[in-house]
Amino acid sequence: MENNKNIDWKNLPFGYYPTDYNVRCYYRDGKWGALEVTSSEYISIHMAATALHYGQEAFEGMKAYRGKDGKVRLFRWEENAKRMRKSAEGIMMAEVPDELFYEAITRAVKMNADYIPPFGTGAALYLRPLLFGSGPQVGVKPAEEYMFMVFVTPVGPYFKEGFKPVPIELVRDYDRAAPQGTGHIKVGGNYAASMRPADRAHQEGFASILFLDSKERKYIDEAGPANFFGIKNKKYITPQSSSILPSITNMSLEQIAMDIGLTVERRPVAVDELDTFEEAGACGTAAIISPIGRIFDRSTGKEYGYGPIAGPFSTEMYIHLRAIQEGEIEDKHNWTSVVEGV
Ligand code: PLP
Ligand code: COI
Repeated sequence: MENNKNIDWKNLPFGYYPTDYNVRCYYRDGKWGALEVTSSEYISIHMAATALHYGQEAFEGMKAYRGKDGKVRLFRWEENAKRMRKSAEGIMMAEVPDELFYEAITRAVKMNADYIPPFGTGAALYLRPLLFGSGPQVGVKPAEEYMFMVFVTPVGPYFKEGFKPVPIELVRDYDRAAPQGTGHIKVGGNYAASMRPADRAHQEGFASILFLDSKERKYIDEAGPANFFGIKNKKYITPQSSSILPSITNMSLEQIAMDIGLTVERRPVAVDELDTFEEAGACGTAAIISPIGRIFDRSTGKEYGYGPIAGPFSTEMYIHLRAIQEGEIEDKHNWTSVVEGV
């Protein structure tokens, strides 16, 4: 693929890079209108929009990958559409029908085809669907109008280390989400709650944070903007918790783990168990798999080490997942869909 835009694909950070178009749609009078295409990076909304005051906002994160065969693939987009419907339901927003979601993401990809990173660069086109209450309210209640939009941006690895073990800080003095709160859906407030401990961890030399369950502070919860997994005795183990976002990457890794001969356990994982893992990692669309080199418990000073190089199972799963996403091996679980015409 020609690089018409002079982008240094191999050195792209995980950040905002402007593209040519985005798509938008409005929910008014109880129904969704037609999808609109614009090249403006700005939106105009009412100053009393519920998104601005009461956090009625949810988003998704997904990637489009250019394969060796030149085709552009989406990965399990139906799961992102479903999760966005769940997020909408959780904070009483209008749900985006899957057909509209699909039309929006594919149009956003096609219209910005020049920004899809070429195969082999390690970069991908990140898709950011966004849904929020755009109508005014002053009392705390759901808006009557919503806006759904999708922008795309080419991105490199989420952690600057790429596929290399990162240091993680375990925090006990901040919680990300409550057990019966909104941790299981992808709403902006969860991320706001994570910023202060994440920033402190960065300043202290860590790539990310590890939260514990906010009731007992005994079990592993979310690994920053990613799910946690540990591997031992040929078992892939990932926490079960009502406040963790059900990661589509994690769900896929559970299947890949089984495909490569591991057994899978999804259950509460006590902090003490960190000592027993042979490998540990964080997984998500942005992070893909980020191996964890060590976990430092900020409150107790205890450190759990997994070594300076990625473990064999994490490496095998990483290669396997990327090969499916980039169309290099058979997609036997039918996870990818080709975007035609790009
Ligand atoms: N957990 C959180 C808090 C996230 O923001 C994300 C990113 O979407 C994930 C986990 C990983 O989810 P997925 O694999 O669906 O991208
Ligand atoms: C993702 O993995 O897509 C995320 O949403 C993580 C983060 C950038 C919020």
